[in-house]
Amino acid sequence: PRFVTAANGVPGEHHIHIEGALTPELLFKLASSNAVQLPTDDPAFRSVASLHQRYSEFASLDDFLHYYYIGMSVLVTTSDFEALACDYFEHAARDGVAHAEVFFDPQAHLVRGVSYKAILAGFKIAQAHAFEKFGITSELICCFLRHLPVTDSLATFNLSELQTSIRCGEVVGIGLDSSENGFPPTLFKDIYQQAKALGIRRTAHAGEEGPPSYIRDALDTLEVGRIDHGIRLANDPALLERVAAQKTLLTVCPWSNVFLKGAKSVSELPIRLFLDAGVQFSINSDDPAYFGNHYILDNYCAVQDAFGLSAQEWKSICEASIHGSWCDEPRKQQLL
Ligand code: ADE
Ligand code: ZN
Repeated sequence: PRFVTAANGVPGEHHIHIEGALTPELLFKLASSNAVQLPTDDPAFRSVASLHQRYSEFASLDDFLHYYYIGMSVLVTTSDFEALACDYFEHAARDGVAHAEVFFDPQAHLVRGVSYKAILAGFKIAQAHAFEKFGITSELICCFLRHLPVTDSLATFNLSELQTSIRCGEVVGIGLDSSENGFPPTLFKDIYQQAKALGIRRTAHAGEEGPPSYIRDALDTLEVGRIDHGIRLANDPALLERVAAQKTLLTVCPWSNVFLKGAKSVSELPIRLFLDAGVQFSINSDDPAYFGNHYILDNYCAVQDAFGLSAQEWKSICEASIHGSWCDEPRKQQLL
């Protein structure tokens, strides 16, 4: 499968948190250059090797998020965000990715005094570089952190620089991420309504650890076009049928689910169920630097190792991935 997909290219990645592409190597380098003090009371931060080791032992989504937010505290300057995104695009190019839709978490940077302008400038340089060097097209999706007060997300959404980036197409959509249980999608109705009025794309993490009702709420209340993860859909046959019928794309992240203990192994994931029920899904990496350095092609391979899919089934996954992409029509036609 590695040969087949690499030869044909991976059509698109829809679920990659750019901050989740921060490798321990780059993390220590930027901590040093920016004089950011990493926790001294956590032995995980003693070395690159000990951090890699700790990343292989996450107990849950929240255990991972603890490290994810500490990790991104080393990102300060435009060139840090550029280096981070360039590192991701190099991996994406190696895996034959043609088009990438990249999440970022502005609130986690704004709170540390980093400006929205600095973040976006770094990404834009990396995106231009990815296109020129590798022909990779990319879009940015601004995510809101559900564990913070909704007022914080609203204030961020209404920042003039953010609104400008939406209006000029630098940011094509919004997402919802961070801790899931206890933070239902309905809390974020206002932002999603405003985003709808602006005519931008909307997605939300739902059904990663949380119940299928969060998937239904994201569809009905937030009116999302995609669902990120969505694996708990397997526990609600009626909703599964609905999602299949309306062709909502799930952005599934197999290695992430295993690393965060949502599943014991990739073979436990409802891939076969989704294929048989006609649920549209793409395969993605989520936070590759935190999940065993498994970038997108490793996730494709893990699915193939676990399920032994046919060429026709891979074709349908790749086509669903392209149809569910948020690139323009001409680009879709190139990818098909
Ligand atoms: N932020 C980064 N990765 C995430 C994940 N897998 N779930 C929720 N929030 C995230
Ligand atoms: Zn995610």
